[in-house]
Amino acid sequence: MPNILTMNLGDRSYDILVSNSTLDSVGKFINLERKVAIITDSGVPEEYSKAIASQCKNAIVITFDQGEENKNLETYKYICEKILDFGLERSDAIVAVGGGVVGDISGFVASTYMRGIDFYNIPTTLLSQVDSSIGGKTAIDFCGVKNILGSFYQPKAVIISTDTLRTLDKRQISSGIAEVIKMSLTSDEELFKDLEEGLFEKDKKQTIIRALKIKKSVVEADEKENSIRKILNFGHTFGHGIEALGNLYHGECVALGMIPMCEKKLRPRLINLLSNFNLPTSFEAIDIDKAAEFIQHDKKSSGGVINVVFVDSPGSYRIEKMSAEEILRHIKSSFG
Ligand code: GLY
Repeated sequence: MPNILTMNLGDRSYDILVSNSTLDSVGKFINLERKVAIITDSGVPEEYSKAIASQCKNAIVITFDQGEENKNLETYKYICEKILDFGLERSDAIVAVGGGVVGDISGFVASTYMRGIDFYNIPTTLLSQVDSSIGGKTAIDFCGVKNILGSFYQPKAVIISTDTLRTLDKRQISSGIAEVIKMSLTSDEELFKDLEEGLFEKDKKQTIIRALKIKKSVVEADEKENSIRKILNFGHTFGHGIEALGNLYHGECVALGMIPMCEKKLRPRLINLLSNFNLPTSFEAIDIDKAAEFIQHDKKSSGGVINVVFVDSPGSYRIEKMSAEEILRHIKSSFG
C-alpha cells in the first residue's frame, strides 16, 4: 500500500500517494471509468503512459516533444485540439505522466478546458515528485518569460511511484535532489543532516516523503504564494537567471543559486553536499552579468522588488526585499 499524505486545502484537498510501485494499480486510486486524456512527452518512457492507458475504459495518449522550450502556447493549442477531437467532457479527466513540463502544461490545460476538469498528476522525475507536482501551480512560458501564463489549480490526486526513477539519468536525479536540499535548508535541519549522512541513497521513498511534508505544510499555509510559499523560491532568483542562459538543468541552477544566499559559514557544508550529488558549485563557467539581465526581467514582472530568501543556518530563513541591482551586488560580493 502507498503512503498517503493529504494536502489540506478545504474543498480543494487531495491525496498524494507515494509508493515504490503504483503505476499498474492507478485505477484502484482514481476513477478511470470515463474518458481520460493522458498527456506525456517524448522523453518519458512510453511504458508509463501505456500502463495507465491499459487501465482506462476510453483513453487517448497525447505526446508532445520533450523540453522546456515546448512549454508554450503552440503545445497548449496542440493538446487542446486533441482533447476537443477526443470529445473530453466536463466529467472526464486529464492525467499528466512525466516531469515538470508535462505537469505544468497539462495542469494549465485542465484548469482552462471547459473552465476546469479533473486533473491527476503522475510525476516521473524526482524534481517533479518532490516539488512541482504538488501545490497547484500550472503554467506555460510566453514571450520568453517563464511561467507567465498560468493558474493555481490543484490536482485531484498526485501519484508518485519511485520505480520511475530507475529510468532517469544521474544528472536528472541530482537536479531533483537540489530541490530537496533547498527545502531542508529553509525548513528542516534534521533532513539537511540526514542528507549529509546519505539518506537519499539509503531510502529514496523516505527522502521524497520528507520533502513532500515540507512542501505540503508550506502550501497549506499559503496556497497562492502571498507570504511563506515564497521560501520555496530559495535559490531560484539567481537560479532562474542562470537557467535562462540555457546550459544547465533546473536543479543545477537552483544549486548554484542557493550558494550566495547562504550565510558564509554554512557555504562549505552546502557545497560539500551539492558536490556529493555532482551538482555544480562553481561560478567559473557562468556569465553572471548575463544571468543578472534575466533577474532584471523578473524584477519587472514582480513590480520593482524581488523577495530574496536567505538561510543563516539549516532550518531557518529570512526574506528580504531587494532590487535586481542589490541582488547582483550581493552575488558578486559573495564571490569577491
Ligand atoms: N516550486 C515553487 C512552488 O511550488 O511554490
